[in-house]
Amino acid sequence: MELPAGLSSALKTAKKILVLTGAGMSAESGVPTFRDARTGMWKKLRPEDLATPEAFRDHPKVVWDWYEERRKNVRGVSPHAGHYALVEMEQHFEHFLLATQNVDSLHQQAGSKQVVELHGNIMLSICSETGKRIDEEWIKSSTLRPPASPHHPKGLARPAVVWFGESLPIDAMNRAMASAGDCDVCFSIGTSTLVQPAASLPFIALDSGATVIEINPLPTALSEKAHYSLQATAAEALPAIAAVLRD
Ligand code: APR
Repeated sequence: MELPAGLSSALKTAKKILVLTGAGMSAESGVPTFRDARTGMWKKLRPEDLATPEAFRDHPKVVWDWYEERRKNVRGVSPHAGHYALVEMEQHFEHFLLATQNVDSLHQQAGSKQVVELHGNIMLSICSETGKRIDEEWIKSSTLRPPASPHHPKGLARPAVVWFGESLPIDAMNRAMASAGDCDVCFSIGTSTLVQPAASLPFIALDSGATVIEINPLPTALSEKAHYSLQATAAEALPAIAAVLRD
């Protein structure tokens, strides 16, 4: 894939990089997007019936079972060439932060080190009352669905993801915001840049004078403002970008 000359020179002189990834990055590995995951018996349910604290309070088993199915799906997928290109890119820069809205750990599985998970991690569980981690052995040993929490008498195990109406993990968001305000180049990859507050990150980078590069086969809210909008998939564009850094 041919890259614009200006993009290559911006990358070669950059020292600080922020990468924001979204559902499109994982979709290319076969992880259904939130909307696509509502198939079969889940089709008639709305996002607010499945991914809110209220839904879990009112129908914990329905919500738990839906996440179990998504977890099963995530266990069956692998990182693609775009994930591995990001691992390689990380090694070229003094400062590199990968802020992901994805909850499937594919970046870490590929080998990325500086990752912040803005929306949590679907493979982990926490107590619904205290937010404390519950280990996998405890989940496996329980016959209840969802399992009771070991941390609180009224608590249940729930997925360690950020639901609609919940705040993002403050440390993760602060690190990403600091990087957005201070980076030389910001990538926005596989995200519609609609879901706040993560969507604000590339716009903060733009306002702070960074070069913003979008990778998305379809136009988004960011496309017109980004310095470079590559209409390609992540697995097509990222290996080409990593190759530029190798030269
Ligand atoms: N490579 C790059 N981009 C892609 C690819 C691909 N192979 N396939 C699809 N896309 C793009 C789509 O064109 C779309 O713009 O990925 C984007 C996905 O957008 P959303 O589904 O809105 O996902 P995201 O921006 O990550 O949404 C944020 O909202 O659904 C909730 O919690 C969920 O973390 C998610 C958050």
